[in-house]
Amino acid sequence: MRAWPTIAFGGDYNPEQWPREVWDEDVRLMQEAGVNIVTLGVFSWAHLEPRPGELRFDWLDEVIDLLHAGGIAVDLATATASPPPWLAHRHPEMLPVTAEGVTLWTGGRQAYCPSSPVYREHSHRIVRALAERYGSHPAVVMWHVNNEIGCHNVLCYCDESARAFRSWLEVRYGSVEALNEAWGTAFWSQRYDDFAEIQPPRAAPAFVNPTHQLDFHRFSSDAALAIYLGERDILKELTPDIPVTTNFMVMPHEGEMDYFRWGPELDVVANDHYLTAADPENHRGLAFSSDLVRGVAGGEPWLLMETSTSAVNWQPRNVAKRPGELLRSALQHVARGADGVLFFQWRASRAGAEKFHSGLVPHAGTDSRLWREVVGLGRTLAAISEVAGARSRNEVAVLFDWQAWWACELDAHPSEDVRYWDTVESVHRSLTDCGIGVDVVHPETDLTGYRVIVVPVLYLVTDAGAAAVRAAAESGAHVVVTYFSGIVDESDHIRLGGYPGAFREMLGIVSEEFTPLRENETVTLSDGSRGTVWAEDVRSVGADVLATFVDGPVPGAPAITRNRVGAGSATYLATRLDQRDLDRVLAEVVGDAGVPQVADVPPGVEALRRHGEDGTSWLFLVNHTDEPVEVACSGHDLVADRQASGVHAVAAGSVAVLREHRG
Ligand code: GLA
Repeated sequence: MRAWPTIAFGGDYNPEQWPREVWDEDVRLMQEAGVNIVTLGVFSWAHLEPRPGELRFDWLDEVIDLLHAGGIAVDLATATASPPPWLAHRHPEMLPVTAEGVTLWTGGRQAYCPSSPVYREHSHRIVRALAERYGSHPAVVMWHVNNEIGCHNVLCYCDESARAFRSWLEVRYGSVEALNEAWGTAFWSQRYDDFAEIQPPRAAPAFVNPTHQLDFHRFSSDAALAIYLGERDILKELTPDIPVTTNFMVMPHEGEMDYFRWGPELDVVANDHYLTAADPENHRGLAFSSDLVRGVAGGEPWLLMETSTSAVNWQPRNVAKRPGELLRSALQHVARGADGVLFFQWRASRAGAEKFHSGLVPHAGTDSRLWREVVGLGRTLAAISEVAGARSRNEVAVLFDWQAWWACELDAHPSEDVRYWDTVESVHRSLTDCGIGVDVVHPETDLTGYRVIVVPVLYLVTDAGAAAVRAAAESGAHVVVTYFSGIVDESDHIRLGGYPGAFREMLGIVSEEFTPLRENETVTLSDGSRGTVWAEDVRSVGADVLATFVDGPVPGAPAITRNRVGAGSATYLATRLDQRDLDRVLAEVVGDAGVPQVADVPPGVEALRRHGEDGTSWLFLVNHTDEPVEVACSGHDLVADRQASGVHAVAAGSVAVLREHRG
């Protein structure tokens, strides 16, 4: 369901933070910047219902009318992200509790237990009231359920969560015997006789049962999803024609929601993304996150619901964006399927915890570099609006699974240095450096059509996931599997008979023992590459050995192997290769598979393509370097409004979007 025929541009608008006279200026400036949509009311509950049952819509009526008169559409939030203090004051049992039993109080935001019936009852009341009042307002083009559901409070260990967790387990397992089997409770005298005996994995004297922990992650993601579904169902009942979304947090520090389960429930997938300030190459992290969001959206266009025009306020050192970075970051998302670029927030706050977070209108006002860049971005997005609705088509996939992430990073494992997100992102880096488009998809997605599939640290994989990978290799895909993949089933039980149980046959290897490395220890491989974190005692049972360990715990053992599988191949990497070695190995695989580059671009320049239904295609070029580059390509550059015939110059730090006519 598409909400609009153009690239959305705007952001969170919080007029309740400002005096009435500012609102007219806001609309005027939004028009100047080319803003076409704002998200309204995300944190408005306390303003809409200052006292229990006393609903005050007058101010919101006025804001929505004002925006509508100014030609600006509204993505109306359901205002349920942060309940007003009076609710917890009357119902302290709705507050979230940590694993250590600490209650998290009001005074910040999102102080509620996701499973609280009190929260649900009161939030549903306000959702219903908003839908009844604004569902037919012409400005309202989309519902924005809650906000970043699960942010801050997803893991709640209170008694209410305990009750909900037990019910969830009863549905999953049917009987306590089945649960005992799945959790392996024969170990450490953990056998349960009744579901009533089960607690959330609260702070305990020793490692809590890993499957118990894993199921609590699954439950918590589902409990957060239930918040979305509860609100969505009310909105669908009252306003079936208005698309419904909520903003995801596909970012390295927010891994608690299994968005592959959430994606299909949204009319439009939306994501929030903020650069990692500590990483000087953070545009690469952006690229990975953005490709993953497209995977969550099933390849459909999606919305960047929030990002920052410059610095955020919540990292240890909040680096400001350099000139041009705002445009490049925005275009990176659009190149990867975003049909909108929205920001937190319209006007940088003058008070509150986020007053040092950038906005579209900075504290300095409009006579500022940032505002001029915002206006420039609005102009660029308008110039490329024809791209909206076009899709990406790629032949290389990286597998990603939130459940595998949770399981991979549980305690009591061979090495705490196996970090899921980092490892997958480094694989993604190597692949994107080949100048190709990359999809990031769930292991149980339809993998046919991919020429290269990389399976990084997929510690947990279901039988279906493993079978899908194998089938893809049989029919011609070149599969690359890294260490600590295919080790356990979905109950976190070891797949016996030698590691990696799920992939051993396809890989033509067997590994008898893991021999992880000490902190900062390195190993050398016979092809000259270097590994860290991991080694293992691999034996080939049919695979070609491409490199062996020269030193470290298992000198002489195979470190990189390749097996022929049907029409394809299966490569195994038994250590964490240094980035440049990983680059080389994956570039070879991509080359062998015959995956063509999107365009021949130098390092530091991204080339990506989106395809329209009618055969039109658009080439995105994003130059992250400080040098101008020339790229062999043809078409009409919509950004510069300039024709390119055979070669196109992209200025230092700049972007180009070429309409190419092919097919
Ligand atoms: C998230 C939230 C916003 C704001 C920003 C700050 O995106 O949804 O309300 O707190 O983070 O970066």
